[in-house]
Amino acid sequence: MNGKCCAGFFITFEGIDGSGKSTQARQLAETLGARLTREPGGSPGAEQIRRLLVEGEAGRWSAETEILLFTAARRDHLEKTILPALEAGGVIVSDRFADSTRIYQGVARATLRDTVDRLHALMIAQEPDLTFVIDTDPKVALERGLGRGSGEDRFESFGVDFQERLRAGFLALAEEYPDRVRVIDGNRAPTAIAAEVAALARDALARRDHG
Ligand code: TYD
Repeated sequence: MNGKCCAGFFITFEGIDGSGKSTQARQLAETLGARLTREPGGSPGAEQIRRLLVEGEAGRWSAETEILLFTAARRDHLEKTILPALEAGGVIVSDRFADSTRIYQGVARATLRDTVDRLHALMIAQEPDLTFVIDTDPKVALERGLGRGSGEDRFESFGVDFQERLRAGFLALAEEYPDRVRVIDGNRAPTAIAAEVAALARDALARRDHG
């Protein structure tokens, strides 16, 4: 694999906790009639690993152990869900993918970007065709995330400084990968965000079909 598999089209959503990206991922998948999936999770094995990652106290795992767990979950998700969908020529939308590890474990939790990149090259080696970073004010997003009371708030419990570092990381990522990453202003009504996202996705799909 050279970072790109087959006939399908792979779209990912990224952003800080509570950014509204999950709502947007769901909406876009519905609009395009695409398959919706998520990380951590997206296959039965990866959903089991997800519980280890998102529940429990903040210090439960080191950043290094998290990289291994997220990558193990991602490998299963890739094998069982993403690659089969792409090989069948479908559009698949994932709520988070490898950019989350690059930023959460590589930049915000610890300075381990090189480790993340090497493990990614070795075990995943697949990039999305298009990535939306939903860019939302960290204070608003954090209140929204914790307000959900889902019990899945291990990462939210790192606090607002952590969310600020994440936001800066995702914005830097858009500069690093200008061809595939689009930053979307998340401080707007969900319908306005969805309209912009759908227009950009349709453009990218049309370019793929005519290019
Ligand atoms: P997610 O279910 O997307 O939570 P939310 O909807 O609150 O954004 O992801 C769970 C948490 O796992 C989230 O805090 C981000 C974190 N995460 C990482 O730290 N690294 C990763 O590679 C992934 C995929 C997620």
